[in-house]
Amino acid sequence: MARQSESGLPIEPVYGPDDLTGWDPAGKLGGPGAYPYTRGVYPTMYTGRPWTMRQYAGFGTAAESNARYRRLIAHGTTGLSVAFDLPTQMGHDSDAPLAHGEVGKVGVAIDSIEDMRVLFDGIPLDKVSTSMTINAPAALLLLLYQLVAEEQGVPADRLTGTIQNDVLKEYIARGTYIFPPKPSLRLTADIFEYCTAEIPKWNTISISGYHMAEAGASPAQEIAFTLADGVEYVRTALAAGMDVDDFAPRLSFFFVARTTLLEEVAKFRAARRIWARVMREDFGARDPRSWMLRFHTQTAGVQLTAQQPEVNLVRVAVQALGAVFGGTQSLHTNSFDEAIALPTDKSARLALRTQQVLAHETDVTATVDPFAGSYAVERMTDDVEEAALDLMRRVEDMGGAEAAIERGFQKAEIERNAYRIAQETDSGDRVVVGVNRFRLDEEEPYEPLRVDPAIEARQARRLAELRAGRDRAAVDTALDALRKAAQGTDNVLPPMKEALRARATVGEVCDALRDVWGRYVPSDAF
Ligand code: 3HC
Repeated sequence: MARQSESGLPIEPVYGPDDLTGWDPAGKLGGPGAYPYTRGVYPTMYTGRPWTMRQYAGFGTAAESNARYRRLIAHGTTGLSVAFDLPTQMGHDSDAPLAHGEVGKVGVAIDSIEDMRVLFDGIPLDKVSTSMTINAPAALLLLLYQLVAEEQGVPADRLTGTIQNDVLKEYIARGTYIFPPKPSLRLTADIFEYCTAEIPKWNTISISGYHMAEAGASPAQEIAFTLADGVEYVRTALAAGMDVDDFAPRLSFFFVARTTLLEEVAKFRAARRIWARVMREDFGARDPRSWMLRFHTQTAGVQLTAQQPEVNLVRVAVQALGAVFGGTQSLHTNSFDEAIALPTDKSARLALRTQQVLAHETDVTATVDPFAGSYAVERMTDDVEEAALDLMRRVEDMGGAEAAIERGFQKAEIERNAYRIAQETDSGDRVVVGVNRFRLDEEEPYEPLRVDPAIEARQARRLAELRAGRDRAAVDTALDALRKAAQGTDNVLPPMKEALRARATVGEVCDALRDVWGRYVPSDAF
């Protein structure tokens, strides 16, 4: 009997030639590095260069996070990935009443250029590529990064990295939105335009399905809703007057890797094929780089367990293997203690070691897309593709991703799937080792990392000093210029950069935009 995949599709006990009747390898696969990129975006893939090992990290103050980045680099990480605390993600300073209790908790607190300078102290920004998980205030953090690079003498055209900058999925699944969708999309288009002109090697967005998956989306839903968001961003930039091949090569994506390895490999391959066709056929992009879906992967945090946490090391290794078989460009492997607390130094190192074992001790980097031609994986790739295309058509029929978000469509679909997973786990149909089977009578004690609560007061003192020592009139003038740009149609990034240079804080800059654009209030459908 067929088993059901995570997307609710059948997985047959045996696949054979009959499952691929009429299947045309040239049209379905192409070669590695060739349209429709099913086999991967580069001709040589990992035989030419392994994926980027990019461990998401950040907590406490800029100085503490800087020390963690230096240790990660010393241990062999090949890219940085910055986690910001919630106040920064919501555009509030550390001393704002709303920030109370959250400063430095889930990421680093960045209030101004002074914190950003400390965060990258001793890290040459022309040598490392940096991803920053920041969405509504993405433009600010990008500009702060550029300002610090200028201080290091690194020109903007040498900078490589990514800002997440994906607000649509914030309304669907993650929740750190500030402004309503329309001005948020306008800001995204401003960022595309600014980067094309100023920071050409920067990946301007990381269109993310990861958080939808964590909220319960199936693999088919994850790629369908993410690619539909991608379509919305492309349309927004085209409507702002940009040429598709000017910005599309720098769009990037972000997916999860679950323990269900075969369907995950199928999912990654299907996503590449769908995006290539959308960009070439629907949007008429001519530059092959516009057709390529390049993506980062994080192993599924939601599948980690607080019970017998060391078992998570095994889960993460399997998940990471799926991402590698799926052709990821960049990978974060979760630490085994993440279901309990922020990773300790040791668990963060073990997570990186997992990637290093895959890259250097196995043979998976020796040949490109080894699953190509597999009856099972090719059939599953077609099945996931079809299910995702079907969902994308439903979004399209509602008027696109933004309109579907306003109706609460994606969120409701994801919640339905999350409910199914919860029911299966409760009934024991879905086995979770150590949780509903193979339990210990008594869990072994575990000492988690704790963030020092005094950080909030320290950060507030730094802000008071900053405000006392800067030219207030210059800050006000710069913020006024920003408000004026936000009211009109000029790109907001140049006046924003001047405000940040004058040491306006993250909270002040976001407040100026809130004055003009307002805040997003979810509709009743949520
Ligand atoms: N042959 C030839 N060239 C190759 C190659 C090969 N086999 N492999 C790589 N290269 C080249 C590439 O062309 C590229 O050069 P270019 O910039 O001149 O084009 C260079 O080597 C770097 O390779 P990639 O672009 O493939 O890899 P990067 O690591 O630089 O970029 C990315 C990967 C996916 C495009 C990028 O967007 C990225 O790094 N994303 C990371 C996102 C991230 O870390 N997110 C964290 C999210 S955590 C989160 O959300 C928190 C929470 O809420 C869970």
